[in-house]
Amino acid sequence: MPFYEWRRSKHESVPMAEKADFIALRLSPLRTQKAHTMQKQRVFSGIQPSGNLTVGNYLGALKNWVAIQKEYENYFCIVDLHAITVPQDPKILRQKIREVAAIYFAVGLDPEHCVIFRQSKVPEHTELAWLLNCIARFGELSRMTQFKDKTQKGGADSASAGLFDYPVLMAADVLLYNAHLVPVGDDQRQHLELMRTLARRFNHTYGETFVVPEAMIPPTGARVMGLDDPTMKMSKSSPAPAHYVAILDEPDTIRKKIRRAKTDSGSGITATDDKPAIRNLLDIYSAMSGKTISALEAEYEGKGYGDLKKDLGEVVVEGLAPIRTRALELLDDPGELDSILDSGAERAKKVASSILRDAQTKMGVD
Ligand code: AMP
Ligand code: TRP
Repeated sequence: MPFYEWRRSKHESVPMAEKADFIALRLSPLRTQKAHTMQKQRVFSGIQPSGNLTVGNYLGALKNWVAIQKEYENYFCIVDLHAITVPQDPKILRQKIREVAAIYFAVGLDPEHCVIFRQSKVPEHTELAWLLNCIARFGELSRMTQFKDKTQKGGADSASAGLFDYPVLMAADVLLYNAHLVPVGDDQRQHLELMRTLARRFNHTYGETFVVPEAMIPPTGARVMGLDDPTMKMSKSSPAPAHYVAILDEPDTIRKKIRRAKTDSGSGITATDDKPAIRNLLDIYSAMSGKTISALEAEYEGKGYGDLKKDLGEVVVEGLAPIRTRALELLDDPGELDSILDSGAERAKKVASSILRDAQTKMGVD
């Protein structure tokens, strides 16, 4: 399946002609016509309010949302209903929801360009998920690698039905807004493929209803690996703090975690297959600084792992410290955060309810 790979640096924007070609190639004639009247394309993405958001979430998702926000009509969701597919403490969950909202604003998402809201405040998400459940296949969901990974330890039998159904709710999230683009990290490719399959199947069975969305995956930082184990994706639900750098970690904690990150045997600083740990550090460095991997390899030729880690620590601190400061300020006024989220939900509902109604009508349950 062709994915719309990220091709822009922070300062470049896609020329209109190129964008129009891209639209024409992938969307139905009806949608193409709409795009020609200069209506902005829609973007949808979300993060679960569980654990501590990491530099992986920042580089794989948030940083890119900010970079493109002015070009699109954006819906950025706090997907709390996805978070409860595994057990959550309700008190902590409430706190984490606000924390994610504060981070969304602190990274620079602007309510003028983005609708920011909680998934559970727009019940259309779960209503569309049910309709899509009725066209999704058991076999398709059984093949989802994220489900297999998450149930590896405890076994699938004791997993919640919600965890199994997770990708269908995710498909509903995006299709409900007729979003064209979904900026996510590399781990979401399979979910995006299923989402596209469900959109096409629905359109084929009931008539043209949904835009078939495209994943937007960044060239660097799309798969940040664990600092303690470069064979594992960095995950915010890891119980080991040494595994990740959190967006809200204090500067000295960030420096310490990077200084202690696992390295490979040997000494050269290259992003090669035999050096997964160094490759990961270079990938983070590149995504944080905008320097290419090959420029970094040249810069660190003849230098040691310690030099790389010291500089990377500073680059990450420089990128994350202002976000932390701003997020903590915002968290001082939870009432204000809640009210911004509520008004986001109102705006989201307007779009979501009409697309849900269309899907219900097509299925005969209007
Ligand atoms: P999650 O933490 O699973 O809610 O993921 C939210 C977003 O962050 C998704 O777009 C993920 O693809 C992205 N993401 C999560 N972990 C990483 C990682 N280690 N590297 C890059 N992107 C990530
Ligand atoms: N499944 C995504 C993740 O864990 C989160 C998510 C839920 C999402 N709904 C979405 C991402 C819709 C993009 C679009 O990373």
